[in-house]
Amino acid sequence: MSTYLELANSIIVKNNNRVKSCDKSLTLIGTGRSAFVFRIESTTKAIKVFFPGFEHIAKEETEIYHVLKDITQFPSVYEQGRNYIVMDYIEGDTLFECLTNGTVITSGHIQEIDDALSLASDLGLNPSDIHLRNLLIASNGEIKLIDVARYRQTKDCKQWSNLKKAHLQLYRKRYFVKKIPKPFLNMLAFIYKKGLIPTYRL
Ligand SMILES: Nc1ncnc2c1ncn2[C@@H]1O[C@H](COP(=O)(O)OP(=O)(O)OP(=O)(O)O)[C@@H](O)[C@H]1O
Ligand SMILES: [Mg+2]
Repeated sequence: MSTYLELANSIIVKNNNRVKSCDKSLTLIGTGRSAFVFRIESTTKAIKVFFPGFEHIAKEETEIYHVLKDITQFPSVYEQGRNYIVMDYIEGDTLFECLTNGTVITSGHIQEIDDALSLASDLGLNPSDIHLRNLLIASNGEIKLIDVARYRQTKDCKQWSNLKKAHLQLYRKRYFVKKIPKPFLNMLAFIYKKGLIPTYRL
């Protein structure tokens, strides 16, 4: 099998942050604002490869995962390179996917995320960038939190308190439709990010 460095180096990126080609053992499972994430075939690991210009985040994110290593809701990290991190692959759905495929997000799930974030705060971190695509419900029902690169920022992040509020005030209501069309959810996320939802300011 190739080394993780070889796998990271196999990824050829097009100008517009799209994957042109990569090793055949890699399956693209997600693209964020700073990185591609691939599952490594026949393993339980994922490799997060940062876009050109974002490579410095690999070290910052790895250091934060090390601080979080005893909190089971965060994946373990196995290797860090100049532009990549190797971590546990989480089989499951992000909360964004749960909302679009109708998987119910319970109050228990919200509590579990809240508990993990409190533990992270107790370790001196400032959990930030807690959005729907950075929270997962694994196929065994457990909660997992990813993308911790901004947990050391000093700026106050209201995203998690807003998500909790929306779960309590809207999602939990019987009349709330639990399956939301993806384009509509993307539009809501866009309006929210612009700060245009008055009671859910960032
Ligand atoms: N360990 C993992 N297991 C399974 N899926 C993952 C894993 N890490 C990331 N993903 C998927 O890849 C997507 C992008 O990953 P990630 O959030 O780490 O990238 P990012 O560029 O830092 O994102 P952002 O845009 O939030 O800053 C996630 O939303 C998720 O769908
Ligand atoms: Mg993310």
